[in-house]
Amino acid sequence: MPIHGARIAALPDDGFARDVARGLARTPKRLPSKYFYDAEGSRLFERICEQPEYYLTRVELALMQAHVADIAAQLGPGVRLVEYGSGAGIKTRLLLAHLHSPAGYVPVEISAPALQASVAAIAADLPQLPVRPVCADFTRAHRLPDLPVISTRTVIYFPGSTLGNFEPDEAVALLRQMRAEMGSAGAALIGIDLDKDRVTLEAAYNDAAGVTAAFTLNLLSRINRELDGDFDIARFAHRAQYNAMASRIETAIISRCAQDVCVAGTHYRFADDEAMAVEISSKYRLDRFDRLAGRAGLGVRRYWTDPERAFAVVLLEPVSADQIRV
Ligand code: AVJ
Repeated sequence: MPIHGARIAALPDDGFARDVARGLARTPKRLPSKYFYDAEGSRLFERICEQPEYYLTRVELALMQAHVADIAAQLGPGVRLVEYGSGAGIKTRLLLAHLHSPAGYVPVEISAPALQASVAAIAADLPQLPVRPVCADFTRAHRLPDLPVISTRTVIYFPGSTLGNFEPDEAVALLRQMRAEMGSAGAALIGIDLDKDRVTLEAAYNDAAGVTAAFTLNLLSRINRELDGDFDIARFAHRAQYNAMASRIETAIISRCAQDVCVAGTHYRFADDEAMAVEISSKYRLDRFDRLAGRAGLGVRRYWTDPERAFAVVLLEPVSADQIRV
């Protein structure tokens, strides 16, 4: 039976002011990338996905289109699909439409407007599907709502290579949380960008149209808007570099001169050319990813990749205690 008028289950505890104050005071300065996604940032991210250099979204969607029937068969019937950081994008709708009698969909998203939009999109597409949105930070433990139908297994969907934005230890912590949430019969379906040459990677994060630069610098505009900051955006620059040792793109905001900035009444000093770290985007190798997942009691059960091996959609399942490697 369809359940309509899905309500928001919890309110977010937004630590934006606290995290910004902390991040600007530390050496080196660093701000969390999760704050990129206000309304303007989300709009800019969608434009990034349309840039010719940013292959991730296109390749992942093509992978889903090519393999969704196989993926759905692998997941089996009666799935409760939990999505972390739902955009209710086309990939999610594609997956939900192909699942065999799904028990329901649980998007976990911190932004209430984004969550509402995603619930509306799913309702329009799949009016019969029970949807139970949770408005929360998916990196924190949350109680998953019950669905009207008993599910056979919980599958956590985490597309977009968003896992790559976490430091390895944080990624393991998030995978452990998924492992706890899915139970022993569960699974996780995760999109990961694969390691590749520097030229391709740096182009993807430094598009010629400058959309990624605008996306990065919007974080400063957001601080100005929401925290009474006085960043002069023209005095900062976007920089994204591939760190081959760590297999990741590291994005920073560079101060173009020595300057003082005031946020919520506190002054912060930037040196000329000072870099403030704002994002990492990890690039994986499947063997290393399997080892990372192993630290959370999960293992790569199957994966789907494109002929160029640019991106992979990976199915993780719990590994039994005797399979855990040290
Ligand atoms: C959607 C978070 C995975 O890291 O590739 C795109 C965000 N940052 N361009 C990524 C992003 C710069 C994106 N994620």
